[in-house]
Amino acid sequence: MITHEYGKQPRVNGAQTEVVSTREALRAARRRLRSEVAVVMTMGALHDGHATLLRAARERAQSVIATIFVNPMQFGPTEDFAKYPRPLDADLELCRHEDVDLVFAPSTETMYPNGTPAVRVHPGPLGEILEGASRRGHFAGVLTVVLKLLHLTRPEVAFFGEKDFQQLALIRAMVVDMDLPVEIVGVPIAREPDGLARSSRNQYLSPADREVAGTLSRALMAGAEAGASGADAVLKTASDVLAAQPAVELDQLVLADASLRAFGPAVTGSARLLVAARVGGTRLIDNIAVEIG
Ligand code: PAF
Repeated sequence: MITHEYGKQPRVNGAQTEVVSTREALRAARRRLRSEVAVVMTMGALHDGHATLLRAARERAQSVIATIFVNPMQFGPTEDFAKYPRPLDADLELCRHEDVDLVFAPSTETMYPNGTPAVRVHPGPLGEILEGASRRGHFAGVLTVVLKLLHLTRPEVAFFGEKDFQQLALIRAMVVDMDLPVEIVGVPIAREPDGLARSSRNQYLSPADREVAGTLSRALMAGAEAGASGADAVLKTASDVLAAQPAVELDQLVLADASLRAFGPAVTGSARLLVAARVGGTRLIDNIAVEIG
């Protein structure tokens, strides 16, 4: 949570990054931005993966807004909302470095003035499977805050990472189903040199777990390479790589079509292989594009 107004902060190119935390200040600052306006929504604890999103937004749009809000609605009762890292000064530094025009960093009270909203976005069946099956209510929380942030920031285009592939599919579905006037752009996953998908959760990995975590992307890449041999081969190849590393506690390994509506060995053409697993108690997710057949 932002505890004081940061006002304007100098950027690398001599321009200024404006930082606001209230609706009124956001409205005034938004009016000053030139079109096209892009938004990148984050929960802070920014890393290179977020920088990739901000750069993609910067390349496309005249003005870039970043939002920083740790959304309590998308945390389950056993997930530690209170302990989620909130390094605001470092996050603002990264935003300045990535040439962001405007940062909106509201408090929980600003976002939810009447407490947890009773009216919320229902994600439908796609929200109940995969991540939604192990994190009940998570996607209702995500879609509700994304819808609110779209209304508050009024972007023409919004950038989301492909790492949270189900989240991206649900946001795309919400935009179509609710006729929201915004273009959604998916940005490819930023990876560490050994292939591990960049994530705020990687900081919870011990050095030994960090070594093991690379198994996830290795399994996905091996699976993708088996695409020409068909869906069964993709799943078997990836699953063999994961099984060979006992420190990986596999939760899900799923092959789906690109919109996450069809699953399993019957999937053909452009597909997605998704994995969720625990390494040393930390739940990690990753995915990769696969051409079947
Ligand atoms: O991907 C995230 O960081 C969050 O789910 C989002 C989209 C910022 C909503 O809180």
